[in-house]
Amino acid sequence: MRTIGILTSGGDAPGMNAAIRSVVRTAASLNIEVVGITRGYAGLIQGDFRRLNTSSVSDIIHRGGTILLTARSEEFRTKAGRAIALENLYREGIEGLVVVGGDGSLSGAVHLAKKGMPVIGIPGTIDNDIAGTDYTIGFDTAVNTALNAISSIRDTATSHERIFIIEVMGRHSGQIALASGIAGGAESILVPEYPVDYDRVVERLENARRLGKLHSIIVIAEGAGSAMDVNKEISKRTKLESRVTILGHIQRGGPPTAFDVILASRMGAMAVKLLASGVTNRMVGLVDNKLVDLEIESVLKEKKQINPDLYRLADVLAL
Ligand code: F6P
Repeated sequence: MRTIGILTSGGDAPGMNAAIRSVVRTAASLNIEVVGITRGYAGLIQGDFRRLNTSSVSDIIHRGGTILLTARSEEFRTKAGRAIALENLYREGIEGLVVVGGDGSLSGAVHLAKKGMPVIGIPGTIDNDIAGTDYTIGFDTAVNTALNAISSIRDTATSHERIFIIEVMGRHSGQIALASGIAGGAESILVPEYPVDYDRVVERLENARRLGKLHSIIVIAEGAGSAMDVNKEISKRTKLESRVTILGHIQRGGPPTAFDVILASRMGAMAVKLLASGVTNRMVGLVDNKLVDLEIESVLKEKKQINPDLYRLADVLAL
């Protein structure tokens, strides 16, 4: 294999740059050239390519976002769009492709693989909602960003003896809410995987007051409902004073944690080695701290579950 391409697609995630760097430098060590594709599948259709060498990726390891930019492409969802993308890959002499992104990006990779383009996927999304890997790139950073925010909010919550409802990202997944909620000592964690039980939420708040707690923190994943609605419900049912903070895209930016940089570096190197050895249509994953590769389609068919032990632990520790 002489030339491979790399693109980042979907929502950006801290650590994507470290993955790009690892792909480029591992490829260089194997005498393989790398073409960077700008704006994910949108750039693939537009033929927006640039050669990347080891110096193009210097000084990016610590930066959030992605130097290749990212996008969600509607055109790539069409047969015609995908045909153009494939043609552009062949015209550029690209013999293998690394796709870094979430589930939508990985299903795009499957389409290309089925048309004969060797493709390896790297799970990059703050949501950590991809089966077949314990962690996706960006999750650890997002959790730590949320945790820092929760700790800051806790100070003001205590001073004013208030309840804070903090909404974190996760359209279909409560992974960020669960991890940051446990680490932040939340009284209640609301996730899309389980129905919201307002009786239980209120019972916990009142119990916390009885025990002399000056504040309470509720962490809610955006997919579980709106923090505003939770706030209204609490005001309706109790006399406690509450406020809402929606963390939003702050969770997607910032320098990646050491964990995410190391994860991205390991996954990037593995992706190149798989392509170089003729493997295709696989996603790199991390299971029990060991790198694995799995068929992308089977990974996408599976729904990653919330760890029930962690969920129960959160409940016990919040008392
Ligand atoms: O998939 C990552 C994610 O950050 C989700 O948690 C969130 O719901 C979504 O992307 C937001 O997407 P956008 O930046 O396009 O609004």
